[in-house]
Amino acid sequence: MDPAARDEVFEPGRIGSVEVRNRVVRAGTSESMAGPRGEVTPELIELYEALADNLIGLIFTGHMYCDERGRYAVGQTGIQRDENIAPLARLTHEVHARGAKIFAQLAHAGSQSRIQGNAPLAPSPVPNPLTGLHVRGAGEEEIEAAIAAFGSGARRAVDAGFDGVHIHAANGYLISEFSSPVTNARRDAWGGSPESRERFGLEVVKAVRANVPPDFPVSMKVGFEDASPGGLTVEDSVQRAQRLVAAGLDAVEVSCNLMQAPADSAMQYVAVEGRRALLDLLPHRVLRDGEPEAYFLPWARKLRAGVDTTIILVGGIRTPETMRSILRSGAADFVALARPLIREPDLLRRVANGRETSFACTSCNLCLMHEGHHSLRCWRVPRRRLLQHALYRLSGSFRRARVIPVARRH
Ligand SMILES: Cc1cc2nc3c(=O)[nH]c(=O)nc-3n(C[C@H](O)[C@H](O)[C@H](O)COP(=O)(O)O)c2cc1C
Ligand code: SF4
Repeated sequence: MDPAARDEVFEPGRIGSVEVRNRVVRAGTSESMAGPRGEVTPELIELYEALADNLIGLIFTGHMYCDERGRYAVGQTGIQRDENIAPLARLTHEVHARGAKIFAQLAHAGSQSRIQGNAPLAPSPVPNPLTGLHVRGAGEEEIEAAIAAFGSGARRAVDAGFDGVHIHAANGYLISEFSSPVTNARRDAWGGSPESRERFGLEVVKAVRANVPPDFPVSMKVGFEDASPGGLTVEDSVQRAQRLVAAGLDAVEVSCNLMQAPADSAMQYVAVEGRRALLDLLPHRVLRDGEPEAYFLPWARKLRAGVDTTIILVGGIRTPETMRSILRSGAADFVALARPLIREPDLLRRVANGRETSFACTSCNLCLMHEGHHSLRCWRVPRRRLLQHALYRLSGSFRRARVIPVARRH
């Protein structure tokens, strides 16, 4: 790119009342680095310092549980109790000192909770394809408590100095489960019609809004399509997004809703052709081309046509040129990256210096496989990590730990 040309990636942008120094968001990426009660650790702060030092405009935290029953995995950061506010404030302070903004991602894992002995919630007793868990349908009081927990989480996010709250309503977690006809078989005020299925998500937005100052930014990761037959379609979800934005959202991040496998959200081997597959020790991929870049872009375009809101696009963005063309086309206002920043936390600085043409991450998803087992890292570099991964896998540790006891972490 001509160094004198205007670069859309580095134009300041805005989400509600907050100005962001450029258009690049670090997408929510669970770090598996927190203490036993979800407390922030020095390791987690270091990771965020590196992202902010390397020019990221806005950081979405990894999903944080705001209710013990909604805890996803061991090592997950928690915003479920007031004692966690002070360490979270240290994290936001370090990010702000480096010029970046940070939103707290609030989540409830629903029937995806992998905590042994937990009593997770779900709208209806539909077995979860990812965890194999069969969770009973929630009662009225349990639903009200889960909504209130999002509100309390938002209040703690304000107290901890976050610049905004990002609600996780995608990827099969509790809000996704309520909105999908596949997982919500209720016939009361929380299910049945599309409006009733959406009620849970709308009540969460209202509870969050009621707990933050009036101009405090609130955004949401919305699941647009279910990966299950008979589920939500993008057309359904554009209408849902209209209602959610009307309830008080400042921005929408586009993702998928119910998943059959983690790769429905984090698609594999994006834009990896034979030569790159070989170079990155992926011989089994040599004869197959990977998924296309920016795989949720068609949904973002439909959202843009149907709803007036700020749009954040995530999913398979793998070159600076793709970032620029998405922003230039107006399909999204921000681009979000998860896996590329795990492998190359300094990636955006190299884009700024004109030294980056494509990102090194080959979307193999080993990092995702280790969520809750080991702290977040790329398992392809340095190469010895591939061996560590192989030994861990061969020892049967993934299989044995489908639901992971809290005390066990490496
Ligand atoms: C290791 C890992 C952890 C993730 N954790 C979260 C999370 O905490 N919250 C979230 O919204 N999405 C999470 N995701 C999904 C990413 O935000 C993103 O939607 C997905 O990886 C596709 O974007 P990418 O191609 O830039 O990786 C995670 C993905 C990975 C690989
Ligand atoms: S392990 Fe590394 S290469 Fe594989 S998806 Fe994660 S960051 Fe990318």
